[in-house]
Amino acid sequence: MRLKNKVAIVTGAANGIGLSIATAFVQEGAIVILADIEEQKVSEVTKLLAINGAVTRGVKCDVGNTDDVKKLIQTTIAEFGKIDILVNNAAVAIGGNIMDMPEDDWDNLMNINLKSIYRTIKETLPFMVKQKSGSIINISSTQAFRSWHNWTAYAGAKGAMLSMTNQLAGQFGEYNVRFNSISPGAILTPMNAKRSEVEGPGFLEKSAAQHAMQRLGSPMEVAMTAVFLASDEAGFITGEDIKVDGGLCTLPRYTE
Ligand SMILES: NC(=O)c1ccc[n+]([C@@H]2O[C@H](COP(=O)([O-])OP(=O)(O)OC[C@H]3O[C@@H](n4cnc5c(N)ncnc54)[C@H](O)[C@@H]3O)[C@@H](O)[C@H]2O)c1
Repeated sequence: MRLKNKVAIVTGAANGIGLSIATAFVQEGAIVILADIEEQKVSEVTKLLAINGAVTRGVKCDVGNTDDVKKLIQTTIAEFGKIDILVNNAAVAIGGNIMDMPEDDWDNLMNINLKSIYRTIKETLPFMVKQKSGSIINISSTQAFRSWHNWTAYAGAKGAMLSMTNQLAGQFGEYNVRFNSISPGAILTPMNAKRSEVEGPGFLEKSAAQHAMQRLGSPMEVAMTAVFLASDEAGFITGEDIKVDGGLCTLPRYTE
């Protein structure tokens, strides 16, 4: 019960890594608000997580929309009076060679993957500063560190998240608000299942081969790192990035 009575918001919580983080948080005793653009799915998983008496709420929220994010934070504060943990997890995977990438694709990705965290942090931080505690966890990616063909926009957004994490950690440490990030390698989630459809057979095997550990990670392996960073055990850790990547970044760059 490392998160007992803590109030946590997880974005993109209806599937994949976000759902595992929400599940692990519930198991550790947190009150969890699951936010996702997929209204029906988020409502279903929220009910499932509450089966054993846990307090959970499912909220339809598009992190690309300022009014949705404001509502998410305001309703959480109105009902629970505080936010202890914010996990910025929602994102979309839009690839594309920069020479051909339509500006709309670029803007859409930046809005959902990067501007979204400006919105959630802007709305949440005043409450954390006031209560003099908080843990904000940004889900970045090993793509912030390594080069893969045709993922410029996605990598750019993930790299910017790391810089923001570092900058904000410096500015708000004195208020006991911690900012950290997690950079996963390839994790077996719906996002990668979708990429596998687009990129063809062998994608998951090739992906696994890029990791020193020769496998993909599980969403729960990322979630347990989030539990640690959210908990008081990590009380003196801020401005850090933890790679959960099976040694991907220790190997030379993968090429075809
Ligand atoms: N899967 C991987 O291999 C991998 C690797 C590195 C980083 N990541 C990062 O981990 C995070 C989770 O990835 P995943 O693989 O679980 O993805 P996923 O596609 O399986 O799940 C993403 C969730 O975000 C939600 N979402 C999408 N757009 C949204 C929006 N505008 N507003 C609110 N919710 C929205 C989706 O409905 C979905 O429930 C992302 O930030 C991703 O970039 C994933």
